[in-house]
Amino acid sequence: MCGIVGIVSNRPVRARLVEGLIRLEYRGYDSAGIAVVNGQGIVRRRAPGKILNLQSVLDDAPIDGTCGIAHTRWATHGRPNTENAHPHQTGNVAIVHNGIIENFKPLREELARSGHIFATQTDSEVIAHLIQYHLDKDMDEESAFLASVDRLEGAYAVAALVGDANQTLYAARHGSPLVVGFGDGEMFIGSDAFALAPFTKRVLYLEEGDSAVVKIDAVCVRDNTGKPVERQIQMASISAAMAEKGNYSHFMEKEIHEQPEALARTMAAYIDPQSEMPLLAESAPLLENADRLVAIACGTAYLAASVAKYWFESLAGVHVETDIASEFRYRTPALPENGTALFISQSGETADTLAAMRYCKRAGLNTIGVLNAPESSIARETTAVMRTLAGPEIGVASTKAFTAQLAVLAISAIGTAQLRKKLNAVEAQRHIKAFEHLPELVRQAIATKEQCRTIAPTLAKAKQVFFIGRGVYYPLALEGALKLKEITYLPAEGYAAGELKHGPIALIEEGTPVIVIAPSDPLMEKTISNVEEMAARGAKIIAITDEAGAPQFEARAEHTIVLPDMPGLTGPIVAAIPLQLLAYYTALELGTNLDQPRNLAKSVTVE
Ligand code: F6R
Repeated sequence: MCGIVGIVSNRPVRARLVEGLIRLEYRGYDSAGIAVVNGQGIVRRRAPGKILNLQSVLDDAPIDGTCGIAHTRWATHGRPNTENAHPHQTGNVAIVHNGIIENFKPLREELARSGHIFATQTDSEVIAHLIQYHLDKDMDEESAFLASVDRLEGAYAVAALVGDANQTLYAARHGSPLVVGFGDGEMFIGSDAFALAPFTKRVLYLEEGDSAVVKIDAVCVRDNTGKPVERQIQMASISAAMAEKGNYSHFMEKEIHEQPEALARTMAAYIDPQSEMPLLAESAPLLENADRLVAIACGTAYLAASVAKYWFESLAGVHVETDIASEFRYRTPALPENGTALFISQSGETADTLAAMRYCKRAGLNTIGVLNAPESSIARETTAVMRTLAGPEIGVASTKAFTAQLAVLAISAIGTAQLRKKLNAVEAQRHIKAFEHLPELVRQAIATKEQCRTIAPTLAKAKQVFFIGRGVYYPLALEGALKLKEITYLPAEGYAAGELKHGPIALIEEGTPVIVIAPSDPLMEKTISNVEEMAARGAKIIAITDEAGAPQFEARAEHTIVLPDMPGLTGPIVAAIPLQLLAYYTALELGTNLDQPRNLAKSVTVE
């Protein structure tokens, strides 16, 4: 989604604004721009497409100054062209905006009636005109900014330059995150601390409804009533080095390889090394006493929730309802009186998940966030937080955050089962012990990469690809399909293996690749029958199984990816790895931009 950087300094800011934008590329965008205050007033440069295009515009027509704002835009209202790119400017005002202004149409009509002429199709441009409108009413810069923000409905993070010689950044947050950074003789604004990591780690997170006036040596923050407030300065947990690709070609490749360490780190936070028992801390009573659990998320995180449903229900005997966040709060859900809702999210900023969390809070549910970003909006508002310690995930396709989510959810299911007396201590310990070798099992799964690379050309040539599985491997089949389609743009579908003959089997043609996730478990025999049905109709079977299951596929599959034996609940975590690798190598084969696939954003901060 859109990214914002702002710098006010005693030295030129252009190069660092562009550097900040490059760090925001991972969020997904389709145009970029910057504006600075220089001797002649506010000047700006914008370009569609990648930041490289903006850099060449800046090379052709350089601008610089000591105060500026910059933006990467992920188009919502209006095509991703130069005209619609931010910053939007009118007179002595330039703004950048992340989010959606829901009342932009009436505001635009009102401003047009007072003579304002609009140059773009965006919702955001109205903010610049509103500020100018208030300046024209003789308001000072800060009052004009605050009065304008007051008129906005919807979700936004806004940064503005107001006045043609004003060394000040104006910022406001409502629904989209914004961070103020403290440098040495300079100050920063960013959509996230990651954008500011090369400049400073000392940051202050604006809270909902906050506005800020940022000068070279000070910041004044006001809350949503306009009262000045102190917000705590913190050390951001991300360092600039954490976000480098190192020896890898892509962030996704690096993040796939980081999974053994990410899982070891995450598990260490949830397993008591002495007793080898789950450690659920503040989440324990919320899981133990709930009549029902509700697990809500989007995309890959939703699929982690879907795997967890099998675990919580089978081990802990607690009913779990899973919901896609964008559907949940619009279907008038019947919620339990004494329920706990889990919100699973890498970013902790996904607009739909955040809104669903607030809905549940209003309905009186306890809330737990399973989150990778500790300083995120969801982390600040849930009753309890269970962190996934995967480290920053930059590749758009979620990999290590997904497996870390699964690890936290699996251990939570075991802990909940023990608290609810569905497992005794010995049984719980046996389940936990199964995780002891998980990092090594994941390492062995990563070692299938050469085989995945040899399968990739077959997938790259396919008209469409199917993924099937049963039980916990059904949501995993959905995840395999999601991963493949988002970075290769190939049509891919995931199905419950037993469901194919109820319709989708009609799509199977001679040579259609069907990826079967079937490690040896009580359901494997059933899945094999479904494989026979596919093979009889010409499907090319690619099996993902374990050593015990491999013989079953010898005569049936064109390729068999053999994983180590995966005890207890570890199976879906290990089996996720070849799915990631198959998607990665297929994308490589097709030459797509796999860290920044088209149309996608890392953190989806609009509904
Ligand atoms: C897919 C992917 C997305 C995210 C989804 C939720 O690889 O990354 O489907 O899982 O947008 O994002 P978070 O987890 O940040 O809430």
